[in-house]
Amino acid sequence: MALLYEKRDRIAYITINRPRALNAIDPETLKELSEALIDFREDNNAWVAIITGSDRRAFCVGADIKEMLPVLSDIRNEWWRVPPTILRGLELWKPIIAAVNGLALGGGLELVLACDIRIAAENASFGVPEVTLGIMPGWGGTQRLVRAVPAAIAAEMLFFGQRIDAQEAYRIGLVNKVVPQADLMATAEEWARRLCEIPPLAVRAVKEAMIKGAEMNLEDGLRLEAKLMDYLVASEDHKEARSAFLEKRKPNIRGK
Ligand code: CAA
Repeated sequence: MALLYEKRDRIAYITINRPRALNAIDPETLKELSEALIDFREDNNAWVAIITGSDRRAFCVGADIKEMLPVLSDIRNEWWRVPPTILRGLELWKPIIAAVNGLALGGGLELVLACDIRIAAENASFGVPEVTLGIMPGWGGTQRLVRAVPAAIAAEMLFFGQRIDAQEAYRIGLVNKVVPQADLMATAEEWARRLCEIPPLAVRAVKEAMIKGAEMNLEDGLRLEAKLMDYLVASEDHKEARSAFLEKRKPNIRGK
């Protein structure tokens, strides 16, 4: 299997599993990634996903240069033929954590950028080397990197394609936390479990408001926020969380 997918206790685990190619994404991996993400989105019992890579060396080194780039060339101008993922084409408002266990290059960094929370192992490194292949990031890198870090830093990384290490990624705000490799999954799981204690409809609404709102003018953004707030104030979890606060007890969150 190019991708491992399992669900435990409200957490979906997506592991890119092509260690011999440093977890490069070939067409099969992309298809399986799309299927896993759609399953995660549709499953009411899955509240948070963690995406990682299957070996210590690489999270993902991007599109498979041998197997994937020729396909992207064959189907150019027909992007709808690419399976929908969080890179492009799939709306998914549940929170996703990247556990970056090693190299995150090209499409690998673009996948990290499409996640909401990013935990890096100390040996992780990040880069968008596509220009050195005479192409450019095609899975969101030029759009999401410049929204994630200051413009001059994004330009430096995108123009030169050089790698930065985990500490530098933390310094520029690309990742939330850097931990020893041995603690990576435990840390990602701890963040995931903490997220599972928060009413999930509220987390999803915040993600939707943040991401859609970033593309709107303030007035439209405030309207979107008000609409999502109207939806949340009528939710069962809000009523339960409010009662629990007043009764000084732990709420029984159900995702409704
Ligand atoms: N696609 C396919 N295979 C890859 C790969 C990739 N992106 N990156 C590495 N591999 C393979 C290598 O071919 C090699 O396989 P073999 O053992 O069968 O020869 C194996 O992984 C190990 O790689 P190296 O021997 O090169 O290991 P290294 O330690 O010397 O270098 C590296 C590691 C720096 C990651 C180097 O392999 C490299 O630069 N890889 C290319 C990374 C890259 O350019 N990614 C961008 C892809 S394009 C993209 O992602 C476009 C997009 O936005 C959609």
